[in-house]
Amino acid sequence: MSQSVSNDQIIQSHYKIQAEKHKESSTSTMEDVIIRQKELESIYTFFNLRDVRVICNDVLEIGCGNGFTLEQLASKYPDTKFHGLDFSHDLLNIAAKRKIANGTFSQGDVRKLEFADHSVDIIYTERCLINLLSWEDQQKGLSEIHRVLRKGGYYFMVESFTDGFDNLNKARNELGLGNIPVAHHNLYFDKELFNSFIAPLFSIVEGSALGSDSNALLPNFLSSHYFSARVLHPLLTKGDPNLKNTEFVKFFSFLPPSGNYAPIQAHILQKK
Ligand SMILES: C[S@@+](CC[C@H](N)C(=O)[O-])C[C@H]1O[C@@H](n2cnc3c(N)ncnc32)[C@H](O)[C@@H]1O
Repeated sequence: MSQSVSNDQIIQSHYKIQAEKHKESSTSTMEDVIIRQKELESIYTFFNLRDVRVICNDVLEIGCGNGFTLEQLASKYPDTKFHGLDFSHDLLNIAAKRKIANGTFSQGDVRKLEFADHSVDIIYTERCLINLLSWEDQQKGLSEIHRVLRKGGYYFMVESFTDGFDNLNKARNELGLGNIPVAHHNLYFDKELFNSFIAPLFSIVEGSALGSDSNALLPNFLSSHYFSARVLHPLLTKGDPNLKNTEFVKFFSFLPPSGNYAPIQAHILQKK
């Protein structure tokens, strides 16, 4: 059995369980409700940017899961056409049941997109490319996104990186807490490899350069949340480091993002 077949099976079986457990809920693939809320806020903020609105006719979400985010966006922007694509039949079956006038769904693979070159204005992903379990596959995914985007089009990525994740574990270790492991179905991006690979393909654009003054569009938008929920709170309570969004956690999580302690980051890439 080839490595890529077995990686694909890991992903299909993981999301089969997610589909059965969470159905159409917003908790599907993300049980931490603050992370889901902040990811959504960052995606809305991105779509509200003037430069994005001007070119935003066709939008492709890759790795749309059960379609929750796409449905929210499609109802906010009725004049934009949204298409959601996902690798998991089980999640896609749930997405396809949503009644979205300006939204369609199909099964597909980001490593081999069935879209013409330069055919889409905007692409976004929310924790999808980290499911490609080798750097080679991640490069294929990034190249395909680049191929399909129109020149000047934007790729808004909400994906995980090792730099924030390593800082988080370092902070935990300093205080006597053990490492949080990377889930078996994820591979986080190495920032240096990522930056050198995308350099000829995309420019990284700051949200502020596109007129945003929102913290939601900062790459480290989840840093304060991760620090409070995964370092301070478990330290004080000696409890489960995951999913404890108490009032204590919320207090820090809604402060402006500080430091680089979140694996999940938001980056705006513009096709060169
Ligand atoms: C962490 S989930 C996020 C789903 C959705 N964006 C959300 O926020 O709930 C990652 C999604 O990427 C999809 N995915 C994994 N590998 C993929 C691939 N090669 N091509 C397209 N989608 C893929 C998974 O099936 C899953 O639905």
